[in-house]
Amino acid sequence: MRTDDDSWDITESVGATALGVAAIRAYETSREDALFRDPYAAKLVGAVGSEGWNALMTGALSGQGVSDADLRGWSMGSVLVARTLYFDEYFADALRAGIRQIVILAAGLDARAYRLEWPSGTRIFELDQPKVLAFKARALAGDEPAADRREVAIDLRQDWPKALLDKGFELGEPTAWLAEGLLRYLPGHAQDQLLEKVVELSAPGSRMALNLSMDGDMADEFRERRRKVMAEAGIHIDLENLFYPWEDRKDPRDWFAMHRWLVTQGDPVTLLEDHGRTVPDAAKAGMGAHILMTATKPRGDDTL
Ligand SMILES: C[S@@+](CC[C@H](N)C(=O)[O-])C[C@H]1O[C@@H](n2cnc3c(N)ncnc32)[C@H](O)[C@@H]1O
Repeated sequence: MRTDDDSWDITESVGATALGVAAIRAYETSREDALFRDPYAAKLVGAVGSEGWNALMTGALSGQGVSDADLRGWSMGSVLVARTLYFDEYFADALRAGIRQIVILAAGLDARAYRLEWPSGTRIFELDQPKVLAFKARALAGDEPAADRREVAIDLRQDWPKALLDKGFELGEPTAWLAEGLLRYLPGHAQDQLLEKVVELSAPGSRMALNLSMDGDMADEFRERRRKVMAEAGIHIDLENLFYPWEDRKDPRDWFAMHRWLVTQGDPVTLLEDHGRTVPDAAKAGMGAHILMTATKPRGDDTL
């Protein structure tokens, strides 16, 4: 059960979801037809030193009930691949527009600071809970980030803007923000507060990218089967008890539009198909329940 001030290490509670998505990135990276390569994902998951987590990222859990087809068909796995492509392109576009200040909210085991190309002078702030960032630092010790990477170890329900400013965030400089795989772990009021702060800290020309799964993105039967197989391997991720309800929150597309930011949306299925990946029908319905969006704060001379 969640509480307003709960905290976690990498294998616990919400922390384990960071490992879960990294395991899917490692699995995608290992495919011959991989749509992206994140060589850090396997290193990060491997640093847990657990057979269960290793089996998940290599797809070896397939033999125990989650088939390869399931892994591909499971809408969340497909969404994860789509959203990686979408947010990678979002950052490339922000860099082309001259943005050099990046803030990754709930960075978890996101290795973009290491694996993407960043122009010199780019600052990347990564925010997450202290134990999650400490695990990442241990696992990637010896690896050099490709930008000026700054850790901000803080709970995003606390005064994270102060912590960010203390680490050198420049007010007045356009920022590209990312909240990937975060919002459902916050109750609706905390989502509102977080987005309000993003708006307040954003100079004109700043951008925000986020994803959010609405309800019904996975068939109950498959959810149950997957939970059982993973639990037997010692992996406990119970999204239903980690997520806060969809109904208690505002749709961020409407929220940013109301704040007069320019909103654009991505479609995960089209994105994958445009990259030549066949999306199983079983995954399509769930993927349709997933919001991928960006929003841009207009400069004074932009028209809405
Ligand atoms: C599903 S993972 C996503 C991680 C990363 N963005 C990615 O896509 O690989 C969720 C992340 O949100 C972080 N998180 C959730 N709620 C948080 C909070 N209140 N404060 C700080 N981090 C939080 C977790 O620690 C975890 O790293």
